[in-house]
Amino acid sequence: MKLRKSVTLAGFKPLKSDVLQGRTGSKVRLREKKLGDVRNDYKWQSDAELAKLDAAPTLIMPFSIYLLDYATEIHRPVHNRYPLAVDTLDGTHIGNCTCYDIDEKKSEAQLGIMIGDREYWDKGYGTDAVNAMVDHVFSTTAIHRLYLKTLPWNVRAQKCFEKCGFTPCGKMNRNGYEFLLMELNREQWEKLKNTS
Ligand SMILES: CC(C)(COP(=O)(O)OP(=O)(O)OC[C@H]1O[C@@H](n2cnc3c(N)ncnc32)[C@H](O)[C@@H]1OP(=O)(O)O)[C@@H](O)C(=O)NCCC(=O)NCCS
Repeated sequence: MKLRKSVTLAGFKPLKSDVLQGRTGSKVRLREKKLGDVRNDYKWQSDAELAKLDAAPTLIMPFSIYLLDYATEIHRPVHNRYPLAVDTLDGTHIGNCTCYDIDEKKSEAQLGIMIGDREYWDKGYGTDAVNAMVDHVFSTTAIHRLYLKTLPWNVRAQKCFEKCGFTPCGKMNRNGYEFLLMELNREQWEKLKNTS
């Protein structure tokens, strides 16, 4: 699998294999995004409930315009963003997990996750995907701290992140929303790895 130049610049080294599997359970594989994901991503971003859970605006643009933007980003990715698709072990695309706001100077990055297919909620897929991304980031880059923000009422997401070792580290307001912040640093991850 070829890694994008921009991603390598952000400190991410090439993947050793085509896929990344989670630390526990091994229910998912993470892989690079491809054009074939566009239908699912359009469906999920146009879904008002999913958008609300993510404090994001619901997508309203026509599919034809979305497709053009999507194809451009696949071929010319944003330099401080590392999006991966979440597949089940049988290859069904169920969501996405992304590292973004990658800041090499501060040695930190933000993590986002969305299991778009509700059939797969509360079955450990999100936890497995986050674990796989965390393991990949700390094993292959110099990033020291991963953090994320979640809406205070999104208990499912917080449970998932807690199971992966993230702990609350404050609050912030952005775009009219109050967010709970959670973080996991390299030392905490190493401890978790040695006890699991
Ligand atoms: C959040 C998300 C990634 C979690 O992934 P998931 O596969 O559903 O979660 P998991 O099964 O790994 O873990 C969820 C845990 O929360 C628990 N849970 C779910 N709803 C709950 C509630 N209302 N109260 C308490 N616990 C709850 C589940 O029982 C499970 O815990 P358990 O394994 O101890 O039983 C996924 O549901 C998702 O993408 N949702 C839509 C978008 C979203 O919310 N994204 C996150 C934005 S920050």
